[in-house]
Amino acid sequence: MNGCNFDLKTKDILNRLEETRKEFWNLPHESANFINILIKISKAKRVLEIGTSNGYSGIWIAKALLETGGKLDTIEFYQKRIDLAVENFKKANLLDIITIHQGSALSVIDEFENNTFDFVFIDASKPEYLAYFLKLEPKITENAIIIADNVTSHYKKVENFINYVKNNENYQCELLNFDGGLLLIRKQ
Ligand SMILES: C[S@@+](CC[C@H](N)C(=O)[O-])C[C@H]1O[C@@H](n2cnc3c(N)ncnc32)[C@H](O)[C@@H]1O
Repeated sequence: MNGCNFDLKTKDILNRLEETRKEFWNLPHESANFINILIKISKAKRVLEIGTSNGYSGIWIAKALLETGGKLDTIEFYQKRIDLAVENFKKANLLDIITIHQGSALSVIDEFENNTFDFVFIDASKPEYLAYFLKLEPKITENAIIIADNVTSHYKKVENFINYVKNNENYQCELLNFDGGLLLIRKQ
C-alpha cells in the first residue's frame, strides 16, 4: 500500500473496498494516497469532502487527519451510502473525527454558518463543481488546498469550474495526470 503506515485492519478494509470501487465510484488508490500525503504535508485540520459514497476516500482523509489532529466533514445525499460509510468508518475506528452531513451538497454548504476549511475534496455531481466552489469561497482559508476529482474524465461537465479557477488570481492550480484527472488548487 505505497508505504502507508496503516494498521492491518485499515489496509484490509481499504483492500476490500477497492474490489467494489466501480460500483461506489471511489477514486483510484493512487489519488487517495496522494490526498492523504497532501493533508499531512499541509497539516490541514478542517477538511470538507463533497461526495462521501461508502467512505473509501473518507478513510484515507481521516487517517491523515489522525496525524494532523484534524476533523472531516463529509456530504452525501444517499442514505444507503451513508449507512455503508458509517459502518466502514466505525470498522476503521475513525467515526469520532468524522461528521457526515446528509443532503444535497449545495444546501448543506449553506448550513455551514461559521465553518471554515483548509482542505476541500470535491467529488460529487460534476455539473455542480463550480456552484460548490462559489458557495465555498468565503469559507476557504488562505493557503487552503482544494482538490477536484474527474476533471479529465468529465472535462466537459467541469470545464466552467476549471476556467473559473484558472482565470482567477486568487488561485494557483495545476491539472494532475491521475486516472480521471485531479485538479490541485491553492488559495493564495
Ligand atoms: C464519485 S462518488 C464519491 C466517491 C468518494 N469520494 C470516494 O472516492 O470514496 C460521488 C458521491 O456523491 C454523491 N452525490 C452526488 N451529487 C451529490 C449532491 N449534489 N449532494 C450530495 N451528494 C452527492 C453521490 O451519491 C455519490 O455517492
